[in-house]
Amino acid sequence: MTTIHELGAEQLRTRIAAELERTRARTAGLTEAVDDADLMRQHSPIMSPLVWDLAHVGNQEELWLVRDVGGREPVRRDIDDLYDAFKQPRRDRPALPLLPPAEARAYLATVRDKVHDLLDRVPFTDRPLVADGFAFGMIVQHEQQHDETMLATHQLRVGPPALYAPDPPQPRARVADEVLVPAGEFTMGTSTDPWALDNERPAHPVDLPAYVIDAAPVTNGRYREFIAGGGYDDPRWWSEAGWAHRTEAGLTAPMHWRRDGDGWAYQRFGRWSPVRDDEPVVHVCWYEAQAYAAWAGKRLPTEAEWEKAARWDPAIGRSRRYPWGDGEPTAEHANLGQRHLWPAPVGAYPAGASPLGVHQLIGDVWEWTSSPFRGYPGFAAFPYREYSEVFFGDDHRVLRGGSFGTDRAACRGTFRNWDYPIRRQIFSGFRCARDARPDESGR
Ligand code: AVJ
Ligand code: FE
Repeated sequence: MTTIHELGAEQLRTRIAAELERTRARTAGLTEAVDDADLMRQHSPIMSPLVWDLAHVGNQEELWLVRDVGGREPVRRDIDDLYDAFKQPRRDRPALPLLPPAEARAYLATVRDKVHDLLDRVPFTDRPLVADGFAFGMIVQHEQQHDETMLATHQLRVGPPALYAPDPPQPRARVADEVLVPAGEFTMGTSTDPWALDNERPAHPVDLPAYVIDAAPVTNGRYREFIAGGGYDDPRWWSEAGWAHRTEAGLTAPMHWRRDGDGWAYQRFGRWSPVRDDEPVVHVCWYEAQAYAAWAGKRLPTEAEWEKAARWDPAIGRSRRYPWGDGEPTAEHANLGQRHLWPAPVGAYPAGASPLGVHQLIGDVWEWTSSPFRGYPGFAAFPYREYSEVFFGDDHRVLRGGSFGTDRAACRGTFRNWDYPIRRQIFSGFRCARDARPDESGR
């Protein structure tokens, strides 16, 4: 696939229209899989009713594309407050006078018609909001992000299974334990990727000492050894805040796991099955990831270490968009886009490995890093502070790489996600890293 900034205006319109429709089909699938009562219900106090996500997606599209880019009259100014994520805490959303499902669907369709109409006319000038179709790309990514959030809500839903997808591919390659990343400077972030969001910008040099990173995410098998070795019962491995949380929340295993005879079973979108050892562990919080890493004699990678492993190509001395190069992800590269509804076993994506042999950085599970969420040097909020700037600080940790639930439009080597260190309803896993020993670093 050609990259966005190589397209002429007509091709760009065609690409945007296709991305909008592809995204809407996923939103429709996630919200048509259950009945109206289920759409209105809150499945967890930390999640919205699915029908809130649905109308919120339409409202953001109206605000940014119909009103701002298009300069058109509001479709429904009266519902702006209802679907403002900052005015309405998730806990309170089920009690709001939300649009019922049929009305929400009609609203989305009305907004979308206007967007197609203005997409035919809008000139892609240098105005930052429209250059390279940025606002359209932002809205595609916004809807895809909510599609992943809705998928996480589905995973919390109690009731008969509603979603189906083929199993992920089997392992096709042996993967090493660890990979040495040599010392040196690399380019972190981007100033040129047209649909990159504000927190990925600007590109800036980062110099790192040599380090060693796991060649794959930590698996269920390894994580079970941590559990069996008493990892959850030994404060030695946990940070002070982590131990307090583990105690108060009564954590004993990843979310959605239960004991099954001598072993473990997990619940995946309403179905229970035995835990498979060679898959990346998913549904762990940052505190659990940090404790596992300490138990293993390692640590979590910093965000810069994760990105250098994912983007740096020593042969050409440059950072690329993905571990495999600059080309868009295909089904051979990574487990993305809800094609499968679970992480794939380690070794399933040899074509997606980095030049140094680091596997499954993109897709499968979001990977916790040790880094708090901060702006890069020279950060400028765009187009609104509430996308990322208001979340900067020590409260949130950065996750990288995307999960099986993430769309390719909202996932790349520079993409940054963030959440509270206690969260584990998201599709979160991790890999470990460590400083290189002098005998390893080649210096
Ligand atoms: C980037 C996933 C943390 O869902 O809170 C959606 C994305 N921002 N609507 C979130 C987002 C506004 C955001 N995350
Ligand atoms: Fe949103």
